[in-house]
Amino acid sequence: MQWRNSKDRYGHLAILLHWIIAITLYGMFGLGLWMVTLGYYDSWYHKAPELHKSIGILLLLAMIIRVVWRWISPPPPALSSWSHFTRISAAVAHILLYLLIFAIIFTGYLISTADGKPVSVFGWFEVPATFSDAGAQADLAGEIHLWLAWSIVLLSVAHALAALKHHFINKDGTLRRMMGKPSPDHGVK
Ligand code: HEM
Ligand code: HEM
Repeated sequence: MQWRNSKDRYGHLAILLHWIIAITLYGMFGLGLWMVTLGYYDSWYHKAPELHKSIGILLLLAMIIRVVWRWISPPPPALSSWSHFTRISAAVAHILLYLLIFAIIFTGYLISTADGKPVSVFGWFEVPATFSDAGAQADLAGEIHLWLAWSIVLLSVAHALAALKHHFINKDGTLRRMMGKPSPDHGVK
């Protein structure tokens, strides 16, 4: 096991976090869209938002670990075959994805705590409410939350298509090094 990132691949911790967080985000997107359609008498009416909020807070912890780890163990550098456009667009997309994920968690927190109630994480611990304005806060945060959710999904799909293009068309090591396989830069077109 190589936990740390190195110059020719992402390490296992960054890879684990990348894929767990990606799957969780798509799951949260589906769960969010579904749960707002539930009627009051549905047995999931309370359970689904509890699950959505609990997973959301755990995702925040995973994201904090991910950013701190990125700082302790920097990611591999750009492949020499990447164009100037690829380097800039990848860097911008990655920064945007990080910002959008933190923002969606924050707006979710604002929706949930608008009435002054804390967020309980599976009953294990609670995140207290800080800003609570039962007025427009939940509606506004809810609207932004939905926009952020679509932005993350669309941007991450573009990001995934770019990764697949590198793998199948350029045939370089971009995707391989996010799969735990070393991808030495030499020999790459
Ligand atoms: C981390 C990624 C997250 C994603 C992708 C996500 C996605 C969504 C989506 C798509 C909806 C449906 C919005 C609508 O149709 O109006 C939703 C609703 C909601 N989310 Fe999230 N969410 C996330 C995190 C969170 C977090 C961390 C919390 C709270 C701590 C939260 C609390 C809520 C609440 C309370 C609603 C219901 C809003 C309403 O009743 O209109 N979400 N979420
Ligand atoms: C919601 C889903 C996703 C999110 C939020 C996401 C986010 C990110 C972020 C922030 C990075 C930069 C990592 C860093 O250096 O700090 C990254 C890298 C990467 N992602 Fe994703 N990702 C998602 C889904 C996917 C999918 C579905 C694929 C492939 C089909 C993919 C392939 C890659 C690859 C290959 C890299 C490494 C790029 C490089 O070497 O610079 N990602 N992803």
